[in-house]
Amino acid sequence: MPDDAEMLLDLIQQAFYARMPIDPPAEALSDTEVLIRARLEPPGFGVVASVNGDDVGCLLVSYPEPGTAMLHRVSVLPGARRLGVATAMIRDTAYLLADQGIRKLQLLARSELPLVQRWWESYGFTPYDTAPHGVIMRIDLPHPIHVPTAKAMELLGVRLARLLRPGDLVVLSGQLGAGKTTLTQGLGLGLGVQGQVISPTFVLSRIHPGQDGPDLVHVDAYRIASPTEFDDLDLEATAATAVTVVEWGAGLAEQLSDSRLEVDILMSSDPDDQTRTVYLNGVGERWQGSDFGEALFQEWGNV
Ligand SMILES: Nc1ncnc2c1ncn2[C@@H]1O[C@H](COP(=O)(O)OP(=O)(O)OP(=O)(O)O)[C@@H](O)[C@H]1O
Ligand SMILES: [Mg+2]
Repeated sequence: MPDDAEMLLDLIQQAFYARMPIDPPAEALSDTEVLIRARLEPPGFGVVASVNGDDVGCLLVSYPEPGTAMLHRVSVLPGARRLGVATAMIRDTAYLLADQGIRKLQLLARSELPLVQRWWESYGFTPYDTAPHGVIMRIDLPHPIHVPTAKAMELLGVRLARLLRPGDLVVLSGQLGAGKTTLTQGLGLGLGVQGQVISPTFVLSRIHPGQDGPDLVHVDAYRIASPTEFDDLDLEATAATAVTVVEWGAGLAEQLSDSRLEVDILMSSDPDDQTRTVYLNGVGERWQGSDFGEALFQEWGNV
């Protein structure tokens, strides 16, 4: 990995020279190959993002204290912005670190760039400490929850349902067949709503009336191409009183609420392994400071 220093330096410099100048200049602008090489010495490492075989972004990781990792030089080439490269790169790095047992992830955001700070906040990072010329922002990393079978995924849904209240938004991500609907079936069982939760085919959104608790609004946004189409589902009408669960909702459903529970389901790269790994991220006031993930994870260990 240290041998990749030259390539990473090139990506970092292209990305940082294209940014708005700040005073004092971003540290990245005085990076050298020797400095990057030092940052790549284990346990430090780098992550490179590529699109169609072209390297378009990178970041570096260090471990400032036990259990805590720090991101540096989060870089995306100017021509590759707005493709979700940074989001994917940060998410994959966060889950890699979570799998290592790292519990906190932090970074330095420059105070001259409030929009950048707001971008990190939209992903759940919150100001943690001040630093020269900026603020350290932090996020709690989720515990990886291993889910061996479809039945176990349903059970996870039942357990998650206990945490949910009227007005909650749950955003489900994961590739085709990851288990989003299966988890929602468990949520439906746990909430005790009427009607069987199924994969929507033509109907993009379905309301399952609650009996003692809130209604479950189950949405599949897979076929939804734009925010306008998403608005047309009129989910605002029920968002405050129901539990709204949106499959494929990342990048669309966030507008429905200030807070959301993100559930990311990852499939194994081994096609013979049916185990899914689920990561729960609570974003916004509703979930801040709550140890819901810890409790669920501890209990899950006993399944
Ligand atoms: N560990 C597991 N967790 C969840 N589902 C599993 C698991 N192992 C096997 N499966 C199977 O994978 C499939 C998951 O389908 P499901 O419809 O829940 O996925 P989905 O993420 O909603 O897909 P889509 O993107 O098409 O909506 C089911 O057939 C289920 O039986
Ligand atoms: Mg589905």
